[in-house]
Amino acid sequence: MRPKIFLTGKLGQVGYELFQMLSPLADVWAVDIQDVDFSDALELEHFVRNLEPIDLIVHPAAFTAVDLAEEQPDLARAVNTIASQVLAEEAAQRNIPIIYYSTDYVFDGRRSFDSFYTENDPTSPLSVYGLTKCDGETVIRSICKKHCILRLCWVYGLRGNNFFRTMLRLYHQGKTPNVVYDQIGAPTWSRIIAVTTTIIILKIFNGFCSEHSEFPWGTYHLSAGGAASWHDFATEIFVAMNQQTGQNMELPHPVSSAEYPVKATRPQNSQLDNSLLYTTFGLKLPDWKTQLAWCLEVVNS
Ligand SMILES: NC(=O)c1ccc[n+]([C@@H]2O[C@H](COP(=O)([O-])OP(=O)(O)OC[C@H]3O[C@@H](n4cnc5c(N)ncnc54)[C@H](OP(=O)(O)O)[C@@H]3O)[C@@H](O)[C@H]2O)c1
Repeated sequence: MRPKIFLTGKLGQVGYELFQMLSPLADVWAVDIQDVDFSDALELEHFVRNLEPIDLIVHPAAFTAVDLAEEQPDLARAVNTIASQVLAEEAAQRNIPIIYYSTDYVFDGRRSFDSFYTENDPTSPLSVYGLTKCDGETVIRSICKKHCILRLCWVYGLRGNNFFRTMLRLYHQGKTPNVVYDQIGAPTWSRIIAVTTTIIILKIFNGFCSEHSEFPWGTYHLSAGGAASWHDFATEIFVAMNQQTGQNMELPHPVSSAEYPVKATRPQNSQLDNSLLYTTFGLKLPDWKTQLAWCLEVVNS
C-alpha cells in the first residue's frame, strides 16, 4: 500500500521540491497558507484533527522572512513554534513520525571559521527567526519521540525569494551587487534537500537496515559540502553566467556585514558538520559548487 503523507508549505522552496519528489511514491496531502493558515493554532488543530489517516507528517512550512520576523515576533512564533507544536501533538497522538526542518540560525555562529557546528553543540540564536525555529525544535523533540529534525543551511532554488534568484535577476539587469564576504555557510539547493529527505523517508517506511533495531530518530545537519561566503556564492553565479552568455559582467564586490546593515543579526559562521547524516544514513550531499552547477543547468535549459 502507498504511504500517506501530510506535507506543509507545498509552495515553498523545499516543500515544492518535496511534493514533486514524493508524489510518485506516496499519496501526498499537501497544503500551504491558502489551505490553512498556520498562524491560527485553532484552525490548524481543527484541520489536522480531521485529516484522513496518514503515516507521516513532513513540515517545511515556516515564517522564513528573517528580517520581517524582528518586527513580527508573534507571527513568527505562531508559525514556527506553535504550529509545529500542534503538528507534533497530532503526530504523537496518531503515533506517526514527523520531519521538521530547522536552520543554522539556531547557532550564534561566533566560532572561528575553521570549526563546524555539530548536532550536540548548544544553540544560541541571534534573531527572532532563529529563536522561534529553535523553540520549534524543542517542542517537536519533547512531544513526538518519532521525529527527524533536519537543520538546513542557506537554501536556494528555482522558486520564491532567494539569494540565487536575486543574483540571477541582477545579472540579467546588468547590475553588479555588493555582497557580504564575512559570513560563511554552505549554499544548498532545495532539490537536493528534497532528494535526501526522500531517501530518509524511504528508510522510515522500508525499515532502517543497520545495527540499529529502531529508526534513529533525532536531529541531523543536512547541508552542502564545502564552504562559501555569500560573496563566493554570488561570484560563482556571475562567473557561470558569464561563461554561459559569453558576456563579461563585472563580478560582485565584497563588503563586510557592517557595511550591509539588516534588521536581524545573522550568524557569521553557519558551517554545519554533516558527519552524523553520513554515519547514520550513508548520505553525503554534493559540494555547493556542484549543486550550483546542476541548478544553473536546469535554469539555463
Ligand atoms: N531558506 C533558507 O535559507 C533556510 C535555511 C535553513 C533552514 N530553512 C528552513 O527550511 C524550511 C523550508 O524553507 P524554505 O526556504 O523552503 O521556506 P519558504 O520557501 O519560505 O517556504 C515556506 C512555506 O511556508 C509557507 N507559510 C508561511 N507562513 C505560513 C502560514 N502562516 N501558514 C501556512 N503556511 C505558511 C510559505 O507560504 P508563503 O510563501 O505564502 O509565505 C511557504 O510556502 C523552513 O522550515 C525553514 O525554516 C530555510
